[in-house]
Amino acid sequence: MQIKNSAVSMIIEAENQKELEEIKLQFLGRSGRLTLTLKGITKIPVEKRAAVGQLANEVKKVIEETLGEKFLNLNSQFLIQNKQSIDITNPGIKPDIGHLHPMTQVLNEVVDVFKSIGFQAADGPEIETDYYNFEALNIPKDHPSRDTQQTLYLDTRNSKVNPGEIILRTQTSTMQGRVMEKIKPPARVIVPGKNFRYDQVDASHGFEFWQVEGFMADANVKLTDLFGTIEYVLRKLMGESVKLKFATTNFPFVEPGVDTYIQCSVCSGKGCNFCRYSGWSEIMPAGMIHPNVLKAVGYNSQEISGFAFAIGLSRLVTLRYRMDDLRLLTNPDLRILEQF
Ligand code: DAH
Repeated sequence: MQIKNSAVSMIIEAENQKELEEIKLQFLGRSGRLTLTLKGITKIPVEKRAAVGQLANEVKKVIEETLGEKFLNLNSQFLIQNKQSIDITNPGIKPDIGHLHPMTQVLNEVVDVFKSIGFQAADGPEIETDYYNFEALNIPKDHPSRDTQQTLYLDTRNSKVNPGEIILRTQTSTMQGRVMEKIKPPARVIVPGKNFRYDQVDASHGFEFWQVEGFMADANVKLTDLFGTIEYVLRKLMGESVKLKFATTNFPFVEPGVDTYIQCSVCSGKGCNFCRYSGWSEIMPAGMIHPNVLKAVGYNSQEISGFAFAIGLSRLVTLRYRMDDLRLLTNPDLRILEQF
């Protein structure tokens, strides 16, 4: 009886599971008080043994039941306490919402500006043939200008293709031939896309870069149309006050060739690493489409003329956001990307 009372009162007062385990050991463990009593039963006179045994078993049962109840009790208390520690008035954790990459944002704008003046966007293959990348653009096999296009050739050894015929396109101008041979003039097309060259990587050059090629072919297209288009587009994209200058240049697929420079926005024209200390950055090479290119796509070069251009999209983005290094655009660090 004494054992039962002290066990029950200890169980009731126990505050946690650990205490309960200890009480259980103290009474029901191998050398627990009740266990020892049961073991000592042989020392009791025979006639009393049955009664003591029965009592001890009853006590054991009561202790076990009380322990069981208390375990459950403590357990639910624990759950309730834990629930109470969740403050349901706290605002939830906001999921991270991503956004378009700065390149994509600017590209979308470029496409919109051109669409507003009647251009359509086209897409084409990054793995290209020598024909569309060079030949159709008035760059025959032995032309020295091929040296300026550090071309990456695909391994064709296990195919029927002649070596050197399949390359990674070095320019989106490839699409001039692909598109114009399919449609009749007037053609007004832009082609955003990636190009590849084994270029020395630095702050303003990468081996993989984006361009937006564009061209227009129709009766009576003049050089002034080209100047007007370039100026209109760059002012829309870079702001009305942007400073531009044109210079002559040479590309086999245009005659004359025009290079467009934009005042370097990283250093405001003072000269920096990005513009190679010239204060200007080449942004949009262009020109009047060479008659040989028109002939290659089956246009009559006596009746049809046109202009072509390429916007260096990667460069446009860096100038727009005044980044001093092109490589920031392919850096996946969220601390950079979250700024846009
Ligand atoms: N495709 C030339 C390049 O990547 C750039 C270029 C120059 C494109 C003049 C044109 C153009 O359409 O008219 O080096």
